[in-house]
Amino acid sequence: MRTLKVALLGCGVVGTEVARIMTTHAADLAARIGAPVELAGVAVRRANRPRPGIADELITTDATELVKRDDIDVVIEVIGGIEPARSLILTAFDHGASVVSANKALLAADGSALHAAAASAGADLYYEAAVAGAIPLLRPLRESLAGDKVNRVLGIVNGTTNFILDKMDSTGAGYSEALEEATALGYAEADPTADVEGFDAAAKAAILAGIAFHTRVTAADVFREGLTEVTAADIASAKAMNNIVKLLAICERSADGSSVTARVHPAMIPRTHPLASVRGAYNAVFVESEAAGQLMFYGPGAGGAPTASAVLGDLVAVCRNKLAGSTGPGESAYAQLTVSPMDGV
Ligand code: HSE
Repeated sequence: MRTLKVALLGCGVVGTEVARIMTTHAADLAARIGAPVELAGVAVRRANRPRPGIADELITTDATELVKRDDIDVVIEVIGGIEPARSLILTAFDHGASVVSANKALLAADGSALHAAAASAGADLYYEAAVAGAIPLLRPLRESLAGDKVNRVLGIVNGTTNFILDKMDSTGAGYSEALEEATALGYAEADPTADVEGFDAAAKAAILAGIAFHTRVTAADVFREGLTEVTAADIASAKAMNNIVKLLAICERSADGSSVTARVHPAMIPRTHPLASVRGAYNAVFVESEAAGQLMFYGPGAGGAPTASAVLGDLVAVCRNKLAGSTGPGESAYAQLTVSPMDGV
């Protein structure tokens, strides 16, 4: 039985967990895939850090050389950002590998080109971890609901901002104080701009809208307003009306089906709404479709192990496809609908 070889690009919070689970669950993964999977190389920025559980000889600072290796079956990209991630993924396809990525910014900016490159290479591109961490969401939208018609996707897709708003709501803290705590607990990055200005949620909204409505949506199509202007007074007046403020991503298909809107902004919702009970760094997404009605997906939207769970689920899927000599569903952009950020607001 042949062993499938995996290259891991990035060994931060998520990459470390991916490597750990690949090692500790190796027998289970092999049983589920039908062949052993082996970590064949790990590309990092700085080689001289301790990385318990990863053999020194697997570590390299030359990610390009790693993805050019013709014995690599799957490349897992968890470095984030546009470059060098984009070039590395394209090189991986050129060399016959399938790709699992957690990179929402890249997928939201350039997903169509990457899907096209995957298709012409006969490879897979899977990225469940890019939206809502551990929550199975993209594959249910792409596969389980493929026979239904999704009309609306609405939810909390950024854990950091949900933590901040939750803190402001439960303690009366101001925005800066709540952000400080989110940073101290490791939810917010040293530079929290992508979270608090809504860029992270907008990228996720673009990916969700594209898959849900089978069209192409980029982050630039999404109306975006972050939560930096939300004050303790706003939270208190929402509370006085039995409401709560949440940063929502809202993606909708127009009634005639010809257009799509996608937006991210703080919104007041009744405290009785199921999204009001989403606390801390959790995420929750409602999907409304014609036949299924209303579905809710809920769970940890960030963090090393939860995000690694989604990455490993994709790894199993692309490895199974490799062994079967097939590929997964690919991009499902059947028609380019008009995408506008603000209709219906
Ligand atoms: N910064 C993101 C969040 C990480 O807080 O949700 C997961 O995408």
